[in-house]
This record gives sequence, structure tokens and C-alpha cells, in this order.
Amino acid sequence: SNAYEKGGRIALPCVTESSCLESVKIAIDTGYRHIDGAFVYYNEHEVGQAIREKIAEGRIKREDIFYCGKLWNTCHPPELVRPTLEKTLKILQLDYVDLYIIELPMAFKPGEAIYPKDENGKIIYHETDLCATWEAMEACKDAGLAKSIGVSNFNRRQLEMILNKPGLKYKPVSNQVECHPYFTQPKLLEFCRQHDIVIVGYSPLGTSRDETWVNVSSPPLLKDPVLNAIGKKYNKTAAQVALRFSIQRGVVVIPKSFNPQRIRENFQIFDFSLTEKEMKEIEALNKNVRYVELLM
Ligand code: A2P
Repeated sequence: SNAYEKGGRIALPCVTESSCLESVKIAIDTGYRHIDGAFVYYNEHEVGQAIREKIAEGRIKREDIFYCGKLWNTCHPPELVRPTLEKTLKILQLDYVDLYIIELPMAFKPGEAIYPKDENGKIIYHETDLCATWEAMEACKDAGLAKSIGVSNFNRRQLEMILNKPGLKYKPVSNQVECHPYFTQPKLLEFCRQHDIVIVGYSPLGTSRDETWVNVSSPPLLKDPVLNAIGKKYNKTAAQVALRFSIQRGVVVIPKSFNPQRIRENFQIFDFSLTEKEMKEIEALNKNVRYVELLM
């Protein structure tokens, strides 16, 4: 789920308590192992419960799961990083996360408010040094609370700031950014490839088109004629073609669904492959327009 804000409104996940728990359990039963979470999705307790129930059932072991947690913008000051991760671990009731990432490269004023605002409704930013935040992330890895550390929504310049930091101990292993056939990120992908940074693509299906945080003036990805025509050839849906396209170019995908049938559908992408010509055709769909503009 996503809690990004657009136009001054906060988009909270509109799901019932049980559907997140159920969805994660169905996903694990289906074969998913990478779970993308965050404190600001307000459902880490359910995700943790689903993982723990599946471990208790004997279906999986903890080490089979790859859980990604995220450091929110109000927690960038270095002294807040470890306590924030510890809070996430307490909610999850797990001993470690597999990946902990800085969710966004900008800091908000620390405090209870997730989106701190002044009297004019403007976000209150906070001066922190991303490199100091990164050093606190490195300490979390050293303490065994996070197996790996990475970033999200970082551009090349921000990545370079970390990579060129004097005394860098660990490079970011991944950068989670919007990535799909309408926003293919060719330059960032190439830069990250050169630096062994895995791109994790969010909104790989073109988002839920929730107007409170999505730029809906960009057309719906899954209605795209090319994706649908290619899907027909393989007896696959546009969603499956979009996901296959991403994994085939080395982009990790984190599709979101609360629907059991679609959760299963999105996993059925390992029994076909797209030709080079089809990959090029899909690459040509790039519009260079984000669905998630992150206007804050
Ligand atoms: P639902 O939860 O009802 O399945 P993204 O992963 O790009 O953020 O997209 C998530 C959105 O796509 C959700 O609205 C989800 O709705 C929908 N969705 C997920 N899987 C599919 C699919 N296979 N076909 C169509 N829509 C899907």
C-alpha cells in the first residue's frame, strides 16, 4: 500500500484490517517471498503477523522471506534511525529486516506528524545531511538489524553523494523508484547497473490510480494496446506482460494487489518470455511521465 500525499491530502490505505493480513498470507502461499513494507503504510503489524503465522505453520522459514522496511522522512536525523528501525521490528515482531531503505531523499521535521505542516499548510522540511543518515543506516547493518541497506526515490546526483562519501562503509544495494513501461528510467537504470545497485520498480502495474496521490492524466498502463496485443499472443494479461518486461530487463517488481486471483495472476510470469523485438516495442511506450509525482 502507499501513503504518499498529493495536493495536501494524505492518502491512507483504504483497506480493512483483515485484507492485508489475508493478502500477505495468500501471497506467501502463492510463492512470493519479497515483501515491500513501510512504517507509513500502517500495516506492518498485519504483515508481520502473516509472516509469523506462515512460519508457525511450517510453510516457510524466516530466512525464506525478504522483508523490506523504510525509514520515513521525519526520521532522518542520525540518532533517530536505529530507534525507528527498532520500532518497525517491534511492530513486525521480527528480529531483523532483510533490507532497510531511506524512503525519500528529503527530510521532514521530526515529530509525531508524518506530514508536519506550518500554518499555511506547507510541509516543514528539516535540514539533515543525507550522508549522516546513511552512516546511521550502516550502523543498523553492523548491528544486525538490517541485512542490507538501500535507498528509494534517489536520483543519480543523490546516489553519487552517497557513493562518493568519504569513508563509505556499505554502498546502497538497491534504489526503489517508479519503473514500468510508461516510465522506463533508462538513464538511471544504466547508472545503477554500472554501480551494482539493483533497481526495484514500484507501481509496476501503473498504480491504483488513486487521484489523491496519482497523476491520473497519464493514461492507464494496463489498457495499453501494445501490452494487450502481446499478452494475447502468450495467453497472458497486460499486467503479466508489464511485469515480465520489467524482470526481463533486470528490474525487481513489487506489484500490489488485495485480490487473491490477481495476486496469483501476477506470479504467473515465469513460464513465458518476451522476444527482443517485443521488449523494444514495450520500451518504446516510455512516456517519461511519472504516475507518482511526489509533489511534497
Ligand atoms: P487490486 O488490489 O484490486 O488487485 P501497482 O502495483 O502498480 O501499484 O498497481 C496496483 C493496482 O493494480 C491496484 O489497484 C490493484 O488492484 C491493481 N492490480 C493488481 N494486479 C492487477 C492485475 N493483474 N490486473 C489488473 N489490475 C491489477
